[in-house]
Amino acid sequence: MGKETDAIIKVIHDAGVKAAQETAGEAEPKLTGSLEWPVKAEIKPGLDGAISNETKIGYVNGTKGWLIYQGYNIFDLAEYSTFEETSYILLYGKMPNKKELETFNKKLIANRKVPKAVIDVLKTIPIKDTHPMISLYIGVAVLATGDKTTETTTVENETEISIKLIAQMATIAGAIGMLRAGKEPVEPDPSLNHAANFLYMLTGAKPDEINEKIMDLALILHADHGMNASTFTTMVTNSSLSDMYSSVVAGICSLKGPLHGGANEKVLYDLEEIKTADNVEPWFKKVRETKRKVMGFGHRVYKAYDPRARILGPLVNNMLEKHPEIKPLYETAKKLDAMVCSELGKEKKVFPNVDFYSGLVYKAMGIETAMFTPIFAVSRISGWAARALEYLATNRIFRPRAVYTGEIGTEYKPIDKR
Ligand code: COA
Repeated sequence: MGKETDAIIKVIHDAGVKAAQETAGEAEPKLTGSLEWPVKAEIKPGLDGAISNETKIGYVNGTKGWLIYQGYNIFDLAEYSTFEETSYILLYGKMPNKKELETFNKKLIANRKVPKAVIDVLKTIPIKDTHPMISLYIGVAVLATGDKTTETTTVENETEISIKLIAQMATIAGAIGMLRAGKEPVEPDPSLNHAANFLYMLTGAKPDEINEKIMDLALILHADHGMNASTFTTMVTNSSLSDMYSSVVAGICSLKGPLHGGANEKVLYDLEEIKTADNVEPWFKKVRETKRKVMGFGHRVYKAYDPRARILGPLVNNMLEKHPEIKPLYETAKKLDAMVCSELGKEKKVFPNVDFYSGLVYKAMGIETAMFTPIFAVSRISGWAARALEYLATNRIFRPRAVYTGEIGTEYKPIDKR
């Protein structure tokens, strides 16, 4: 590995050490192992605190700032794993041996190419005037056409579709990026790993070692994150025994929103609006007065600094030497980070989340801002699929209830008597 890659590994390692030191004394909420039943139920908007199911896929400990995939700490996966291996771990619940990983990689590579119909449809829509997340779900929906296996929802079928989707989400997102830039999509390159091939398909240029490593890292960090809105949406859709394509389309639709994955794009627009670190204070004051949420901050579960932001923040700093053009945006981000943490950190436990620094990483890599959320989807497909498959094994349709606060027995009046 080169000197630059070693520097990235050091960034991840140092972030992990710092996270462990800072949260060492925090008490762990009892959300692992067997819960005490019955759990006292409270009605809170947004299903806050509601428990939907048991899982072994992953765990977010919001007070300690932990993110765990199948038992493995995110800092270890970020430092040592690859997106392919992380996806395997999420799907199969164990570390692959060399042969298993090789077979899985080969399967992903063999599945990269999408049917011509997908590219043809993307070429017929006004792609430059369509948000790429919309183009992405159109692309995935076209993948489902003609696939008869969607009529039998079994774990085996759905696993095959999931692997295909992990491979092809990158191809579709890449094609969208190229078409938006007015260029012809490129064919996947089987000699490249998933991250490098994705960057190649997204930009038309083969990435250097450092950008390949950074994209791989970004994909690992975004692969799973508890029962977030898009994961829950995917699982709810799959629980009616729909099919994995439809469930993933639903997940993409949910991820698109600015309160979820769409925040990474909005952060960049905010930073560009603020322009320089000197403008942060008046900008933040105005935002507070209008009670607007600051994009890239806050989280339903994290009441500590998001471990992924602990890696991505210093990573941007590390990229400045090669990309001095993003220095003003980074300095603006750092100042905003410090200001939000000091004003809202203690009182409301609002800290940066994954989306605050990820956009700056992609911006430094020369990626179009509107493509940031599709990159999230290219990674999160692994978590969506893993959790939907785990749930499918003992499936019961999701069907919560709402507390009715309306009237009963209201008299129906014919229209001419109202
Ligand atoms: N900026 C300013 N204040 C924020 C905030 C933010 N980004 N996020 C939360 N808060 C404040 C809320 O105003 C609320 O204050 P109050 O108690 O005085 O009403 C308090 O912190 C609790 O937040 P709440 O809105 O109840 O959290 P939530 O769990 O419903 O929402 C998010 C979580 C992520 C949707 C929310 O933090 C948000 O909108 N963040 C910005 C979008 C974003 O970055 N999304 C990506 C998430 S990974």
